[in-house]
Formats: sequence, C-alpha cells, structure tokens
Amino acid sequence: MPKCAVWWAGPRMAQRLQDPHIQPKVGRMIQEVPMLLQPATDVRLRAYAPYSRFKVGAAIRATSGAVHVGCNVENVAYPEGTCAEAGAIAAMIAAGDTAIAEILVIADSPAPVPPCGGCRQKIAEFAAPDVKVTLCTTDGAQKVMTVADLLPGVFTAAHMAKA
Ligand code: THU
Repeated sequence: MPKCAVWWAGPRMAQRLQDPHIQPKVGRMIQEVPMLLQPATDVRLRAYAPYSRFKVGAAIRATSGAVHVGCNVENVAYPEGTCAEAGAIAAMIAAGDTAIAEILVIADSPAPVPPCGGCRQKIAEFAAPDVKVTLCTTDGAQKVMTVADLLPGVFTAAHMAKA
C-alpha cells in the first residue's frame, strides 16, 4: 500500500484506548502514514454537518490508482443526509472507477469511528472482502480492518441465485 512520511503530532486520547487494533501515534516523530490520510483530512473540512456538527472525510484509492474523496452532507430533513463514504463512492463511480483498492475514513472522535451499517454494504459493493479499511481520528489514532471484518455475512448477488 502506498504510504508517505509526514510529521505527526501524537494523540492523548488514543493512549487511553485498550483496543489492540488501535495504533496510537505517540510523541512527535516521523511516521509512515497512509497516503489516503491527507485527502480524507482535507475533504473532511468541507463536510456540511450543521446538525450533528460531526464532520467525516473519506478517501478511496481505486484499483486504477486514482484517489476519490467524499464528506458527509447533511440536510434539514435529517434522513436525507449522506455519509462521507457514500460521497466518496459516488465520486469514484462518477470518475469512471468501479473497484476499491483501499479506503480510509476520518472523524474527530475519541476512537476511530467505523462506517455505519449502510455504508458497510455500499463499500462491499465495490470492494473485495480483504480490502483494507483504515479508520482514523483527527488525533492520530488508527484502526485497520478489512471489509470482511466490517461486514461479516455480507449480502451478495449470490444470495439471489434462485430468484
Ligand atoms: N457519518 C458519516 O459520514 N460516516 C460514518 O461512517 C458515520 C457517520 C456522518 C453521518 C452524519 O452526517 C454524521 O456523521 C452523524 O451521524
């Protein structure tokens, strides 16, 4: 997976978390960080979240190598809001890509926030079960999972084989 080296400020919150999947970035040091972190961080700032005030950014590396981003876009009619992951997927499809090689999601949260149930199914539509999903906080905590970790027992076209 492509990575880049950046200066990274360590979190306080992540140090308190017990989850072994969470890799707190402690201290000020050069870390290898996912190449999707910067685009997801940037797009998160453009989220439209006046109701929840919870801004989320998502970045997808498609199998073509192109990077596609999305942020949550809320609506006064609350159910009409869309998640960051859905936005990134829409951008990917609009750009002509159809396969996710990797996805990263970031939010300002005490712990890396996993995609909601609906987004898990949306991601699974375009990603193989072993595709890496990196969940990040703006404090620098990261949790790395796979699509299969996120959505065991995913509904697939194979389940409609008798239809
Ligand atoms: N949200 C996302 O964009 N992605 C997630 O993975 C979790 C939740 C958004 C939806 C809504 O705008 C806000 O976060 C609060 O739920």
